[in-house]
Amino acid sequence: MAEYVLETKNLGISFGGLKAAQDVNLKIKKNQIYGLIGPNGAGKTTVFNMLTGVYKPTTGEIYLCGERIDGHGQEEINHKGIARTFQNIRLFNNMSVIRNVLVGLSNQPEYKCGLFTSMFRLPRHFKVEKAMRDRAKELLDIFGLLEERNNLACNLPYGKQRKLEIARALATNPKLLLLDEPAAGMNPQETAELMDTIRFVREHFDMTILLIEHDMSLVAGICEEITVLNFGQTLAHGSVEEVLHNSEVIRAYLGDD
Ligand SMILES: Nc1ncnc2c1ncn2[C@@H]1O[C@H](COP(=O)(O)OP(=O)(O)OP(=O)(O)O)[C@@H](O)[C@H]1O
Ligand SMILES: [Mg+2]
Repeated sequence: MAEYVLETKNLGISFGGLKAAQDVNLKIKKNQIYGLIGPNGAGKTTVFNMLTGVYKPTTGEIYLCGERIDGHGQEEINHKGIARTFQNIRLFNNMSVIRNVLVGLSNQPEYKCGLFTSMFRLPRHFKVEKAMRDRAKELLDIFGLLEERNNLACNLPYGKQRKLEIARALATNPKLLLLDEPAAGMNPQETAELMDTIRFVREHFDMTILLIEHDMSLVAGICEEITVLNFGQTLAHGSVEEVLHNSEVIRAYLGDD
């Protein structure tokens, strides 16, 4: 078995003259909660976009459980086992809460049935549909969203929309979950709840999690290892203690003064 769930080697991308990310080397072990932090514009979301196939890296390599995946498309990478949430929530707003999760599940081979079976509504069609609904309800229950399953996603309060996005990502049965600023816009109470949710996801789904976050209470509370980016490059790497006390990191966040 590969030593790391995710490994990147000298990963980088340029947009015109701008090196948005450069020589990013991540090594994330199974079951870790790993933080990717850095000031605005540091290149964090760009790294997620390369990991998920939105952008093709200009340099370097990406390995998921030892298999090289850079250069593959978004859907293929999701099938191979990387799922994400977005910095700005992206739900199917005019679909019900449960439908959002069903869309995630429809990626799974076990829930696929052929066009013929579906068109003629053969018994297997109903069996698969029921299995999917049961699984979707199970996921919604975990995130405390079961009661609201028939509401429109856009009518959920903000904190619950964030949870629904995580549930939908997990429905694709990933090996690695990427969360882009999951606590953005949350109040301290919601952030504390989110930390419990992320810990629960790690245990319950035996998940490996890479998260981008500006909220240092969340980062310090749940990340075991951190990489700090600044102007696309790695400024520091280590444990929470090491990184948050690093004078260069403090300077990057607070400026020279
Ligand atoms: N498609 C693109 N074309 C041109 N420039 C881009 C593109 N995507 C990102 N960039 C640039 O790359 C740099 C890094 O952006 P990125 O969104 O990765 O930062 P970030 O660390 O996620 O910041 P924030 O904390 O504000 O979300 C920025 O200067 C941004 O303008
Ligand atoms: Mg970002």
